[in-house]
Amino acid sequence: MKDFIGVFDSGLGGISVLADLHRMMPQENLIYLGDSKNAPYGEKSKDEITQLSYKIVQDLIDEGAKAILIACNTATSAAIDTLRKSFSLPIIGMEPALKPALEQTPEGKILVLATGYTLTHGLYKKRLDELGNPDRVLSVPAPMLVRYVEQGIYQGEQIREYLKQIIPDTTDIRAVVLGCTHFLYLAKTIEDFFGWPVPLFNANTAVIRELKRQIELRQGSEGMVEIRNSHSQEMVELSQCMMQNYLKLVTD
Ligand code: DGL
Repeated sequence: MKDFIGVFDSGLGGISVLADLHRMMPQENLIYLGDSKNAPYGEKSKDEITQLSYKIVQDLIDEGAKAILIACNTATSAAIDTLRKSFSLPIIGMEPALKPALEQTPEGKILVLATGYTLTHGLYKKRLDELGNPDRVLSVPAPMLVRYVEQGIYQGEQIREYLKQIIPDTTDIRAVVLGCTHFLYLAKTIEDFFGWPVPLFNANTAVIRELKRQIELRQGSEGMVEIRNSHSQEMVELSQCMMQNYLKLVTD
């Protein structure tokens, strides 16, 4: 495939980003690499995540990528600086949508769900400091949710029990930031857990707009979308279903 944007995640989570990217920029050719063989990234060290991300980006560039979208908050947090220093093409990453959540939620607490890595490393900490309102933010690592989504589990008692365990008190929470791309598939489960349509924030639209600003857009017919997965062909098929389901959900 020529003239394409390379998109990657530790596994299946970034498929939601890929789907939004295809919806918002339908003429672009896209190649997605889900690294399910090495998921979850959130339980690895900075060096490990950087090495895995570097290899994926190098391969996508060797194949002719014109830009890279890191559809993973954890990989962005660990590796984006190294990747930008190493490669000269536009590299766009994800970070939890904390700013819009705080701006659009005048009172109460904001719950940020992400991997432990994202919540305890540079980018996120810097953002918390900049926004200057740490008391309003509850940062909760939710590593098991990544594992459930990788297994194709999006609802049910075990997720509910897990949410109860990591969020024992929901009283003051007025909004939730989905700070891991895997969690977008759990939107309905999280709403059901709260028992009311709690506003959920993610960074997809903002990140895709930024990417659009930085690249030369492809003209003409609808672009091609190719999904690959380091684990197995089964994961590719699951990813294709997830993309269709996600598109149905957001366009209905
Ligand atoms: N989807 C990823 C994110 O946005 C990471 C999940 C993981 O591999 O731990 O952070």
